[in-house]
Amino acid sequence: MGQTLPKPALRPFLPADVPVLAAIFAASIEQLTGDDYSEAQQEAWMSAAEDEEFGKRLASDLTLIATLEGSPVGFASLRGTDHIRMLYVHPAVAGQGIATMLVDALEKLAGGRGAKSLSVDASDTAEGFFAKRGYAAQQRNSVTINDEWLANTTMKKTLGAEQ
Ligand SMILES: CC(C)(COP(=O)(O)OP(=O)(O)OC[C@H]1O[C@@H](n2cnc3c(N)ncnc32)[C@H](O)[C@@H]1OP(=O)(O)O)[C@@H](O)C(=O)NCCC(=O)NCCS
Repeated sequence: MGQTLPKPALRPFLPADVPVLAAIFAASIEQLTGDDYSEAQQEAWMSAAEDEEFGKRLASDLTLIATLEGSPVGFASLRGTDHIRMLYVHPAVAGQGIATMLVDALEKLAGGRGAKSLSVDASDTAEGFFAKRGYAAQQRNSVTINDEWLANTTMKKTLGAEQ
């Protein structure tokens, strides 16, 4: 009643975040991508968090964590200067602008690193989100994880004058 909702905040990734980010990754795939991918595809996708490469990639990329009242609720990572590698938001807080805040920040950071454009291999679930932000589809891809084929779309946005 009259209470203001807690405001999300951003902070950089720390190595100790890996387990909670793995849990957000799995929950978001399990609960948000079911309209676009089969259960077998979701399981294969989720299994990526069990690989030690998962934490290594987060550490080597520029990874940002979105928090609500100090707890991580989503994360996104920039590979090099111009590619969004990961974007995952916990289903409990989906639709509240968390991904928007993360991608706004990555676009600014990419611009700051001199990138003229930013690309992402968007899941079919995230394609609408990126299209709304001005990313244009370039090509369809299929990636294989644990014998399952998953489709995604390479999308690209030219970073504009606001950067
Ligand atoms: C895609 C994802 C990151 C969006 O996170 P989110 O925090 O719910 O997104 P936001 O609340 O910032 O959404 C911003 C806008 O995009 C829209 N949007 C969000 N997800 C969308 C979708 N799947 N399709 C179309 N539009 C979408 C929202 O309606 C909102 O529009 P509005 O500003 O007009 O209200 C989240 O659904 C997710 O984690 N999905 C599963 C994992 C995944 O596919 N990751 C992408 C890998 S590339």
